[in-house]
This record gives sequence, C-alpha cells and structure tokens, in this order.
Amino acid sequence: MEFPPKCKKYCIWISVILFIIFGICTLYFYVDVIGGNEDQFTEASVPPASLCNKRFIGFYAAQYPLKPSQLRQLTHLVLPTLVKEYDHLVEIEGGRWNLFIKMRDLARKVNQDIKVMIALLEHDGGQRNTVDFLSRESRTDEGRKKLVDTINNFLLKHSLDGVHFDWALQNSDDSMRIKLNFLKDLREKFSNNPGQDMLISVKIPPYGSIFKNLNFAEYKKYVDFISVGTASYIDPEEIPGYVMPCSPLYKGPGIMEERTVNYTMNWLIKNVGDIGMFNIEIPTYGMRFQMSKDTERALYRRIYYFMILEDEEWNYAPEEWDDESKTPFMWNKDRSIVAKYENPRSAEEKMKYFLEKEIGGVMIIYPDMDQPKMPIFEAIAKTDWCNGH
Ligand SMILES: *[C@@H]1O[C@H](CO)[C@@H](O)[C@H](O)[C@H]1NC(C)=O
Repeated sequence: MEFPPKCKKYCIWISVILFIIFGICTLYFYVDVIGGNEDQFTEASVPPASLCNKRFIGFYAAQYPLKPSQLRQLTHLVLPTLVKEYDHLVEIEGGRWNLFIKMRDLARKVNQDIKVMIALLEHDGGQRNTVDFLSRESRTDEGRKKLVDTINNFLLKHSLDGVHFDWALQNSDDSMRIKLNFLKDLREKFSNNPGQDMLISVKIPPYGSIFKNLNFAEYKKYVDFISVGTASYIDPEEIPGYVMPCSPLYKGPGIMEERTVNYTMNWLIKNVGDIGMFNIEIPTYGMRFQMSKDTERALYRRIYYFMILEDEEWNYAPEEWDDESKTPFMWNKDRSIVAKYENPRSAEEKMKYFLEKEIGGVMIIYPDMDQPKMPIFEAIAKTDWCNGH
C-alpha cells in the first residue's frame, strides 16, 4: 500500500499508535474478561450441587438477568408462567419470555448439567384468582389428552427439559385424583419421546390437612422431585393480624409449630421417607407488616423485595435476630412497621439443616430479586453440598 507522499509520515505514526491501542485492548480483554469473574468464555462446568446428587433450583422471576457465575451453580432453572388456555400455554409478556430464552442459552453454555424448565401456575402471585385450569380441563379423557399433548409439544418446541406444577393449593380429593391421572398420562407421553426423558416436578403446600392427605406414594411414581412450599408459611387468605416470618426454621415468638420448616420436614421424614426427593424453598423476599399502635397485631401486610430496604423507614430500625426461629427482623417503632425476611444468616441455618436431614434439593424463590445487601444466593451457593461425604 502506497501512502500519498504528504501524509506518509503522519499516516505511519497514526498506524503505529492505532496498533498499540489495539494491542492494549486485546490484552485488557484477555486479562479482565476471560480471566475475570464472569469467565463466560471458558468451558462449561458441572454445578457443585449435582456432583453430590443435590439440586439447587432457581425459580426465576425473569425480571433481571442472572450472572454466568450464578448459572454455573444452579442445577435447574425454572420460569413460572400462568396457564389460561391450551394453545396459549405461556401467558407472560414478551420481555420476560425473551430474557428467559436468553438465560436458557447462556445457562447451557456455561453449565454442563443445567435443566431448564417452565412452571405452570394456577394462581396469580398468591392473589388466588385461581383458575384451576389443569383440574378443570383434565376432567375428561379428551381434555386431558389435549393438555398433555400441548405441554409436550411446547417443551419440545422450546427445547426445554421439563415442567413444574405449582400446586400449592390442592383444594379437594377430587381435584387431587384428577391431577394424579393427569401426571400419569404426562409421564407416559414423555416416556414415548425419543431421546432424554423430560422432568416432572410438583409443588405442595407445607402444612395443613391437604398437605398431610396427599397421596405421596402415587406422586412418587410420576414425578422426579417435589418442592415443599416452605417459603410461604403465611397464608395469603388469612386475616393479617398474624405477624411471623415467611419461612421460620423453628418455632419462635408468635409462630405455630406446624408452620416451621422443621415440623414439615420431620413430618415428611416420619410419614413418607425418601427425603432425597423433596426440595425446601428459600425466599429472597420478606413481609412488611403495618402494626396497630396499641396492640401487637398487624393491620395489613405485603410482600417485600429487598430494594425497598433502601427506604428511609428502616433508618432507625437496626436488624435484629430471633434465635428461636433463626430469622432476622426489623422493627421501626416510631412508624409501627415490622419487616420479617430472609438474610444470609437465616439461609445458612436452613442449609445446615438441609445437609443434616439429607434433603434432596433447595429452590431459591426469585434468584434475580436477590439484593447485594442480602445475598441469599451466595449464602446457598457456598454450601458444602457433599457435607464430608
Ligand atoms: C424439630 O422438630 C422435632 C419433631 O417435630 C422436635 O422434636 C424438635 O424439638 C424440633 N426442633 C426444634 C429446635 O424446635
């Protein structure tokens, strides 16, 4: 290449300078990006939990992306969606769905084992405007077949590994029977797919008569694992007077024994066995209670995500620890508000319990809503999954 004579000297100098800048950028790229925390260009790894036959499941709100370093830890990534119609299985806006698909692809790039699933909800965020869709539609053989086909086609089309049914509200024996028939047919359908079998999991309530009357023996025949709803011991339909953490490990002030992780898991160990097929849930959210001035009762409550802790209402409320239930709380006395939630310490207590009882899995409810101030994800991820085994 011949430079015009006039610019020859300058052009050569400019080329040299550009070449040096390019060199520095390349070096920076290798040191910072490839060698750095996000290590997204290195090979896929096996999640530590699955090396020890445990499950670390992310129940993903799809509000924010997950980091590759988080995706490497998970054994399952589950996207909750609301079911309303057969041919419209996924009732979520494009933005969340697109983010989920992006995460599905990234997860498979950085993680050798991860299973990506959708969760079919029957209720909308605990509001209980329940369309008991599956029960209603699978009442007839024809309806059940159509539903089974739709789910199977949907999973194949989007290259997903399975389906989770968020059945915390199983209202009657009748509806339970219908659901079991449905699971049986779905399992059969999946087993006829070429290649790997799809996963089926269900969520069950953590306490109460419905929980105790579930037909566990039959569930076990069709599902791969069962998530116990231990992130929500507060019944959304109950009058709000009751002030307790969403997920107490043990009984404590104001906490009924039946509504503790310890009671639930001991009950399952004693009455069902096979505790390796169960998951506990750990939430990244908490509850905010507005208290009445003169009594210890709450006037109302709402679900609380942690970014809200930045609010000034907590400025004069230092974090306290209830050692009986192993949960933290904050109490702003001037404003009569109480927050009960999960923090890294309470999550660690639960993971200690998890290992001790040899529970099979843990599901973090909304890993992407986790806050830098309250890193629940990290607290779970640093578990020694093999616990010396
Ligand atoms: C855990 O539950 C068992 C059985 O329900 C009970 O005996 C035990 O005292 C509980 N542990 C704590 C610390 O409450």
